[in-house]
Amino acid sequence: MPLTLLDTTDDHALPVRVLLLDETPLARWTPVHAYGYNRVRFHPDAEYVLSRFAYLRREHDLYVLEVAKGAVRIDFLDRQALVLFAQLIAGVDVDVTFMEFLVTAGMMDTVEALAPASADDLAFHDALFQWKTRMGGNGLLPVRQPFLPAHVPPAIKPPMSTTLIPLFTPDIDALQQSDLPFTRVLEARRTRYDYGEPLTLAQLGEFLYRSARIQQELQGAVYTGTLRPSPGAGALHALELYIVAVNCAGLSPDVYHYDPAGHVLESLHVAVSFEPLVENALRMTGGRVETPQALIIIAARFDRICWKYPEMALSLILKDVGALYQTMYLVATAMGLAPCALGGGDSRLFSRIVELEAAQEQSVGEFLLGNAIRTS
Ligand SMILES: Cc1cc2nc3c(=O)[nH]c(=O)nc-3n(C[C@H](O)[C@H](O)[C@H](O)COP(=O)(O)O)c2cc1C
Repeated sequence: MPLTLLDTTDDHALPVRVLLLDETPLARWTPVHAYGYNRVRFHPDAEYVLSRFAYLRREHDLYVLEVAKGAVRIDFLDRQALVLFAQLIAGVDVDVTFMEFLVTAGMMDTVEALAPASADDLAFHDALFQWKTRMGGNGLLPVRQPFLPAHVPPAIKPPMSTTLIPLFTPDIDALQQSDLPFTRVLEARRTRYDYGEPLTLAQLGEFLYRSARIQQELQGAVYTGTLRPSPGAGALHALELYIVAVNCAGLSPDVYHYDPAGHVLESLHVAVSFEPLVENALRMTGGRVETPQALIIIAARFDRICWKYPEMALSLILKDVGALYQTMYLVATAMGLAPCALGGGDSRLFSRIVELEAAQEQSVGEFLLGNAIRTS
């Protein structure tokens, strides 16, 4: 089959390579980013295998081959190219020109480059996440107009229960005068695992008010945002807090949703035991906490952020989680509580226990909170 390569450029003078069968274009590779693009050299005698970062997906009626860390995409324009690709995967010898086409797009690794697998390399999903959620990785202009739906998900999640538990509201004006100085809090902030008496409902109320309540609603032309003690991308604040009360004075063991507008807890009366969630959290501390008091689970309402930032929704959500973690750490420190952020949790298990629509909302962060042992 007389396959040839045609080198040309796109509108931005970036290199484009087309695989031709006679005059028919079978596939085309184009850079998806102006930087990081580097044509890989092809060595006809080397042995190549598909990169472990490569993946095939469908986009409208096109099949697209990309490589998670790469800056080039291949569009299969003709079924014959897909057949060639399938043969390659099946171990059939393919035309050297097709191989050159794939290699120079960065889709293939030499067999030598595969071993040993580098432990300090990003995992496939992390590499994809990194390169797809940074500017330009989607082949889009860095600044794009958001899609404006007819219905923007609401700023405040509708109530999840009619059983409401009012929370203590601290006197913020008084605290501004009497609280520990900022630098003392910042310097004293530590992850703590030493629990004393059970956390009280008043402490939990103060903690939530100071770290997560709605301070102000912002009525925009397109959507309503909110201002809270933590910053939030686009003022969208898609994060929801759930309190798993294990050993809290004045609060029955249950899972509660925090309403940041009304500053109340909504009792979810969960039917499935929340114990496995708590066991996971304790495991994450390496056994440093034995008798937990409160586990705060942070979930994200994906639809609230996806409509505005569809290409980088999860990236923004996780940044919001980081900002909230720090706010919770500082408030806990100022209050003499024991805070501990956790690096992982089981989202599916959480969705099952609180009966969340998994597609709409999922847990994205976990935080242990206890009443610290008083040292003085
Ligand atoms: C994103 C993140 C994830 C963390 N995950 C865990 C965890 O799973 N288990 C744990 O015991 N501590 C966890 N920590 C706490 C860190 O271990 C702790 O912040 C670190 O040791 C530094 O100590 P410091 O917080 O006292 O400054 C986490 C902290 C952050 C910010």
